[in-house]
Amino acid sequence: MKILFVGDVFGSAGRKIVREHLGHVRESHKVDLTVINGENAAGGFGITPGLAEELFDLGADVITTGNHVWDKRELIEYMKSVPADSHERPRRVLRPANLQHGLPGYGVYEGRLADGQTYAVINLMGRVFMNGTNDPFHAAGRILETVKAKVILLDFHAEATSEKVAMGWHLDGRVTAVLGTHTHIPTADERVLPGGTAYQTDVGMSGPYDSVIGVEKELVLNRFLTGMSGKFEAATANPKMCAALISCDPLTGKAHRIQRIMLGE
Ligand code: FE2
Repeated sequence: MKILFVGDVFGSAGRKIVREHLGHVRESHKVDLTVINGENAAGGFGITPGLAEELFDLGADVITTGNHVWDKRELIEYMKSVPADSHERPRRVLRPANLQHGLPGYGVYEGRLADGQTYAVINLMGRVFMNGTNDPFHAAGRILETVKAKVILLDFHAEATSEKVAMGWHLDGRVTAVLGTHTHIPTADERVLPGGTAYQTDVGMSGPYDSVIGVEKELVLNRFLTGMSGKFEAATANPKMCAALISCDPLTGKAHRIQRIMLGE
């Protein structure tokens, strides 16, 4: 079984490069399950229901998010428009599972592919240098007690490499893949851990790389040089789609292989 995970889609440049590459990558690698982190799809800040629909139209089965999940408030109504046991598109947009209790949306989705294969996608957010999250390690453990699928992918949206590496070891042998998002820079440490969990500290942004993690570089540089705050705008130049391709045994959920993908124009 092949799983494609596409890193944080950033702004119009990110959407454009994903539109350009997703179809042929899914086809040439015979991808069964496609998961996209879309939390920066709307100009770098959040995702609207319309943009979520766009990513589903391109082939996403599940969309994950992170710290920018609530930036576009209309997403809240979209998430609330379906019940927990729904398989409709709004139910397949996840927010981190370890946010404060009672918030809209869900952090786990269990689904079934057309061929009957079951899978689960979990979205968690880190605590190091990030706010508003509960312990992701214990949250992962509690979630795994309830998940029935063998094929399980975790999008761990976190800032610190140490926290992500630790999560990889924490879940080795218990999930198919632990993939990091949020830093927008792909790391060259993809591997299958001894227990059969595919791991990469950060899959990297799908967006404009002539930027500072997606934002127009002059605006960020100006903030570093002067200390003055200013409005950030999404950059557009040099877009790349970053993704991880995972092969796994559908019966056990163990990963055989993980491959890093970076495709430009
Ligand atoms: Fe993020």
